[in-house]
Amino acid sequence: MSQRTLVILKPDAVRRKLIGEIIGRIERKADWRVSALELRELSREVLEQHYAEHAGKPFYEPLMEFMASGPVVVLAVEGERVIEGLRTLAGPTDPIAAAPGSIRGDFGTIVRENLVHASDSEESAEREFKLFFPASA
Ligand code: PPS
Repeated sequence: MSQRTLVILKPDAVRRKLIGEIIGRIERKADWRVSALELRELSREVLEQHYAEHAGKPFYEPLMEFMASGPVVVLAVEGERVIEGLRTLAGPTDPIAAAPGSIRGDFGTIVRENLVHASDSEESAEREFKLFFPASA
């Protein structure tokens, strides 16, 4: 089943020069390809829409502040079961719980700075595409 997913390399990934490492892991999967890519700063307005479902949770403000703390890389990735696959490649939210071999397991430190966002469902992916790549959504 070919799908597309929205991936964000968070400010810690950019600061720590892990862009190439993470995109390399994505590209190593023969069935996946990067179809859009942009380095940019995320505005409060975009972040509020992106994380609307988490408004009011204890981690909401720290997350918003962190995501606005520097440039991110926004990527579209297409391919076979890529939504589930990218979540597996990223590993669980908490890097301590993430297995070695996953991005968070290998490079993650604290929960807030967990390097990567990947859409959690087809519905989220389509919503996130409209927000981040409106011209191609
Ligand atoms: S939930 O409540 O289960 O839906 O939350 P979860 O999917 O684990 O996380 C949702 C996003 O919030 C980020 N997160 C945090 N950021 C900062 N600090 C803390 N403590 C924290 N806990 C969770 C988490 O990385 C998710 O962001 P994205 O961008 O989707 O990865």
